[in-house]
Parts: sequence; C-alpha cells; structure tokens
Amino acid sequence: MSLLVLGIESSCDETGVALVRTREHGVPELLGQALHSQIAMHADYGGVVPELASRDHIRRIIPLANEALAQAGKALEAIDVVAYTRGPGLAGALLVGAGVACALGAALARPVLGVHHLEGHLLSPFLSADPPEFPFVALLVSGGHTQLMRVDGVGRYRLLGETIDDAAGEAFDKSAKLLGLGYPGGPALARLADFGDATTYKLPRPLLHSGDLDFSFAGLKTAVLTQARKLEGSPCEQQRADLAASTQAAIVEVLAKKSLKALAQTGLDRLVVAGGVGANRALREQLNAACAARGARVYYPELALCTDNGAMIALAAAMRLQGGVEAPNRDYAFDVKPR
Ligand code: KG4
Ligand code: ZN
Repeated sequence: MSLLVLGIESSCDETGVALVRTREHGVPELLGQALHSQIAMHADYGGVVPELASRDHIRRIIPLANEALAQAGKALEAIDVVAYTRGPGLAGALLVGAGVACALGAALARPVLGVHHLEGHLLSPFLSADPPEFPFVALLVSGGHTQLMRVDGVGRYRLLGETIDDAAGEAFDKSAKLLGLGYPGGPALARLADFGDATTYKLPRPLLHSGDLDFSFAGLKTAVLTQARKLEGSPCEQQRADLAASTQAAIVEVLAKKSLKALAQTGLDRLVVAGGVGANRALREQLNAACAARGARVYYPELALCTDNGAMIALAAAMRLQGGVEAPNRDYAFDVKPR
C-alpha cells in the first residue's frame, strides 16, 4: 500500500512544502514541491531575523502547500500523512510548520510525523537520478552542523565525529561577514574565492591531524579576522578575493581529508555529502578527486536540494514510514525541538 506524504519545512529561512508517495520497494516518489526563500527579506539585516522568519512562514506556507498539491495533481483530502520539521531550528519558525501540520492532520483526521531536519538533509541524495545504496559515510555540512556519520539504513546512524565549536557553514558565514560580504555568506564567499589565489594566506587547518574525526573552525575564524583587519581600508579587491579563496581552501581541505579518513576507518566506499555547504564547488571538486583516487564514489543531492526544502522532509518521513522505522501518530500536540 502506498501512502501520500505531505512534508513541511520551516526551520529557518526557507518555507518548503512537498508531496511524496511511498513505494513498496525503492525510493519514494517526489510528486510535487514548492519553495520560497526569505533570503531577500533578511538580506538588509545581514542575517536571519527570527521574528520576521516566523511571520513570513505563516504568509507562505498555505499557498506553497496548494502549489505542491497542484503540481502533483492531488486534492488536499488525498494526503495520508502530514510530516513536518520538528527541529533543530528557530523555535518560532518551527512552530509555524508544526502548527500547520497538526492543524491539517486534525482537520483531515490524518496522522502526523515530526522529522529531524538533519535526517532530511542526510537522505536528500536519494531524490537524485543516481541515488546511493546503504551503507555509506555521510558528511553533513550545514549552517548549524558539521558531522560525519556511518549510515547503515534509515534510522541507523552512528556519529563518527562532529565539530567541537563552529559548523562549517558558520565558518563560511562568519568569514564572509569579516570580508564585508552579505548574507548568506557561504555562497558569497565562494563566488569571491573564484577570483582569488588560495595559496596567498597560510590559514590554520584545525584538528586536521587530531587522529579523530572531529572538527573545529573557531580558530580559523580568528585567523581570518586577523588577516581581514590588515585589509581594512585597503582598496585592493584582489587581496579580499585571495583571503576568501584561502579561507575556502582551509575549510574544504579539513572537510575532505576527514571524510576520506572516515571512509578508510569504516572500510566503506560510498560517501554522501548533504547540507548547504555541500553546494560548494571547491568542496565537490576536492571530494570527487580524492574519492576517485581511492576508488570510492561521492553522492550529492541535486544542487537545488542542498539547502533547506520541503522535499527532503517529505522524503525522510516517507522513508521512515516505508522502512517501518516509525509510525505516525494522532497526537496533535505541537512538538518542536529547536536544539
Ligand atoms: O543546510 P542549510 O541550507 O541550512 C541549515 O540547515 O543550516 O545550510 C546553510 C549553510 C549556510 O551556512 C550557507 O552559507 C552554506 O550552507 N552554503 C554554502 C554554499 N551554499 C550554502 N557554503 C559554501 N558554499 C556554498 N556554495
Ligand atoms: Zn538545513
């Protein structure tokens, strides 16, 4: 029996709604998806303003749900399960998605399912044309998390290592801010880095030789701050581009080397990269080359699904249901876990 799952993502600054159908075998099928990014709205403030984010989710979420349903050619009543991002994320923003999901569930008399945002990212490569197979090592690199995991199946995750301070996305964003770049910093820094020479500045590669699979990016940020201060008032755009390129190279090298180490340690030959930083081209190039040299394969979500979206939440819910990992419930109490 197949189930129609509506998935809602509202943890930060993207509102996403998608419709997925479970299958007896194989990856669930994506039937429709709609996404609205709040980036333009927050750009004036240099970062996400939580209160504005929540209000915009309220405005967008129902029209987006209608759009996803229309794309799929389905009526609201056809939905079997309503899934939403339970966390982590901004509390107010999460509450909007959870509230809408539980209201829909109660109104339609359908069960609801709260999904972990990172599980959404982690499973998102299954929506690509050439999905991975279990088991694999996952490098999860978003704005709030940097983790290496061994993944043996849906719901079977073992943490191998993680950041002890800043996340990789945070390192990109904070360094971008120091370079006077706007929000979101990661893509802006990556664009500037295209014009720079990555060998110009010798920046630290924290924990590169620590022997474990943990990360640390706070020291790198301090080093970038020191260099950025020296450039203050300097009209030389090339120096900023060189610093951007050097920063990106430092982050990418640590991520790539530790990922390869995780493959060696686990003896696995598949690496899945997910989360916003997974969109970074330099990271992809380095991982592709390093994995190819080792006879391993790297899998990414489609570029559009690297950052937050509803499809990954609907998919994660569908895969949990399909795998019998979890049953949805009819407890319509709001349930969010911001941290
Ligand atoms: O997964 P995501 O959309 O949201 C969270 O769950 O955090 O990740 C957002 C993060 C931000 O830090 C953003 O700057 C970073 O991903 N990011 C990038 C790129 N695109 C997004 N970082 C480096 N290069 C990119 N091309
Ligand atoms: Zn995310």
